[in-house]
This record gives sequence, structure tokens and C-alpha cells, in this order.
Amino acid sequence: MVSTRNKFSSKFGFIAAAAGSAVGLGNIWKFPFEVGKNGGAAFLLLYLLFCFVLCYPLLITEIAIGRNAQKSPVGAFKAIHHPKWTFMGILGVLAGVLILSFYTIVTAWVFGYFVEMLLGNFRVGDQFSEFIQDIEMIGGYSLFILAVVAFIVSRGVTRGIEKASKILMPVLIFILFFLITYSLTLDNALEGIKFYLVPDFSRINVEVIYRALGQAFFSLSLGMGILITYGSYLKKKEDIVFSGAVITLADIAIAFLAGLMIFPIVFSQNLSTDGGAGLIFITMPGIFATMAPGWGIFIGSLFFLLLAFAAITSIISLLELPVSYLVDQHEIKRDNAVWIAAGIVFLLSIPSLLGSGYSAYFTQFITYYGSEVPIDFMTFLTDVSSNTLLPFVGLLTSLFTVYVWKRKKLFQELNHGSENFSSSWLSKYVGFCLQFIAPAVLAVTFVVTILEIFFGVQLFS
Ligand code: PHE
Repeated sequence: MVSTRNKFSSKFGFIAAAAGSAVGLGNIWKFPFEVGKNGGAAFLLLYLLFCFVLCYPLLITEIAIGRNAQKSPVGAFKAIHHPKWTFMGILGVLAGVLILSFYTIVTAWVFGYFVEMLLGNFRVGDQFSEFIQDIEMIGGYSLFILAVVAFIVSRGVTRGIEKASKILMPVLIFILFFLITYSLTLDNALEGIKFYLVPDFSRINVEVIYRALGQAFFSLSLGMGILITYGSYLKKKEDIVFSGAVITLADIAIAFLAGLMIFPIVFSQNLSTDGGAGLIFITMPGIFATMAPGWGIFIGSLFFLLLAFAAITSIISLLELPVSYLVDQHEIKRDNAVWIAAGIVFLLSIPSLLGSGYSAYFTQFITYYGSEVPIDFMTFLTDVSSNTLLPFVGLLTSLFTVYVWKRKKLFQELNHGSENFSSSWLSKYVGFCLQFIAPAVLAVTFVVTILEIFFGVQLFS
């Protein structure tokens, strides 16, 4: 059967779109603050380890499942004749929608800061918390962003997703390099580099492992079927093994570079690395404000523009997920599906919007057993969706592939476009990781972290 599904027009188009999905706020906003909060280089090491042994094999598996089934996640499992596994697709779509609901809010902060920089308002220090409590403004920005992305997604795969990514990704890389060069020249830059690159293993504990794992999944957009969806738009002649490696390395590289940009600045300003979600919003404007005014405005706006670009290509992929589900499974027209999905996401984003200090209820939403500090709704949502659901779906994906779909079928699919894959050492590595390492690591981490973090059971700490 010849599929008539809309396809990426080139290898570069696919890589740009998938890397565009992977590279986002996760790399430039979330990665540095997680590193800062969770032990610096120790966290970095764990993250890298997870990327190579768990995420890369799972990433090419997701793409292969999608291309083989020619369907977005929910349909994909039906199409490879395993209707029982459909719930996995549904879990993925659910995780994607939840993530999108807070992702649009952070993107709205970013966009707001971009506008402020342009106007010459640096908003250093505490002004960040004030800023995000202006819920009408942030809500307005988030509506605007959703509308822009909805427009791009409604144009379809090639003219919308692919085209936007091809332009935005190279610009992003250029701006990042520019800023790193600058930050490395600051006083105390070396202290920042040390914190970032010299590991202190005593900082590793269950929570650090949990967050590093969640970060690896989140950053590579794994575990919710985005790559299944993108894989379904991929031609048979394309090499998944190679493209997957490029996507993984590009994602790691950009997160790594973001750290290299930020820690010298944090240390040069004597700030705490523990700034959490506000880290880049507090550190970066501080540095822009110390530059000559014209420069500060120019570089500051560039920086937030870079972040906004990175976020938009990720939001595109996150929105494409429920959209492709509605189109494939419910035969809703693409245009309508886009606006329905965007509307639902906007409603779901309201608690995250309110949880930034505006409403006490959502700001101190929950206190985990055994902890004293209440966390806000957005952090809670990140824990549930990205740190827990994604690795859980990853676990199911590895089990599904090894025991239901079977390695042989996976390798056959990967052989298209990468002829000798199934007889190469890489296939042995991928097979081993999927069959043994992924299930073991993911299952143990899943159980331990649920018990320790959510229920306060002290197993290791
Ligand atoms: N990977 C994106 C980032 O790093 C976020 C994302 C997560 C996008 C899940 C799509 C799916 O920001």
C-alpha cells in the first residue's frame, strides 16, 4: 500500500523539525536550573548517561514505530496490530497536553521579557516574581503564542512545521554561540565552569537521579509519542539511525552550551545557582543591565528571542501530538483539530498561570509526604508529567518493542535507509539497551522515586 500521508520533504527538514522539538526551553531554561539545583556537574553526568544508554535507543525506536505504522501514537499501536497497547499512545498524548499547558506559560514569560528588553526595561532581580504575577499580561501573551503556533500547525507538515524549523534552528545556534563567547569573558567565569564541569559525586541521591532522568526524557521530547508522530511523516529511504544520532547530539550540545553560557554569568554576579524556574530570568537580565545601554538592549532582546524561537518549535511538536490524534483517530479536519487542541491547552494552562504567586492555592499547591516545602502547581505538573509519565511511557515502549513488536521488526524497519544496521555493533547496543538496561533502570527508578518523592518512604536517603 502506498501511503498518501503528508511527508517531510527532506532529511534536513525532518532533522530540523525533530531537533526543533527537542531543543527548547528544556535546554536553555530548564536544564541550567536543574543543574544548578541538583548538584552541578554530577547532574550533568547522569543526564548524559541517560541520554546515551536510554534515550537514544528509545528515540530511534519511537521514530521507527511511527514510520512503520504510518500513524500517530494512538493509531500506531492499533496499526501494528496490538490494540491493547493503545493506552500507551493515550498516556503519551495526555502527557504532551499537560506539558504544553505549562510550557506555554513559561514561553509567555520569555516573550514578555523579550518585549521588556526591547523597551529597555531590564527587570533585574525580584522584578521577575512581580512580572509573572501580572496574569492578564502573561495570559494574553500565552494566547498570542498559542494562536501563532496553531496557525503554523494548521498549515500542515511541510509548509508549516518543516519550514518554520528550518529557519528558526540555525538562527538559534548562532545567537547561542555569540552569548557564550561573551559570558566566558566575564570575571569569575572560571568558578562557574568549575561548578558546571567538575563533578561532586556526593551530591547524587534519588532525587537527583529522578530529575536527571526526567530531564533527559523531557529534553529529547521522548515518551509521549511526538517522535512516533514525526516518524509517521518520514519517508522509507531516510536513515533513522543517523538522523536520531544527530537529533540526540544536537539536543545534548545545546543544553550543554546553555549551561556554558549561564554558569559563568551566575558566578560573575555572585548569585545562587539554586534559583529554580526563575534562574535565567533573574541572572540574564542582571548581566544585560551591566552592559552599555545599547548593547544591553540588543543582546538582551536577542537572548529572549532565541528562547522564544526554541520554545516555538517545541510547542509546534507538542500541539501536533493532540492534533494528529484528532485527525487520525476521530477524522476531524486538521484546521478544526488545531483550534480545538489549542483551546483545551489554554484552559488547562490557567492553574499554572495562577500558581506563580497570584493565587495562594496554586502557588502552594501540594506538599509531598516527608517534605516541608509546598510546591507550586507548575512544579507539581512537571513532576507528574515529565519526570514520571515520560519515563513510564519509555519503560512501556521498551517492553512493547522487545516483547510484543519484537526486535527483528524494529531492526527491519531501521534497515530501511540504513542498510546494514541489523548486522552492525550499534544494533547490538540498541537491542541490549532496550531489552535490559531500559526496563531495569526505568522500572527501578519509577518505583523508588514514587515511593521516596511522593510518599516520603526513605529507601536510600
Ligand atoms: N524537548 C522540549 C524542550 O527541551 C520540550 C518538549 C517536551 C517538547 C516534550 C516536546 C515534547 O524544551
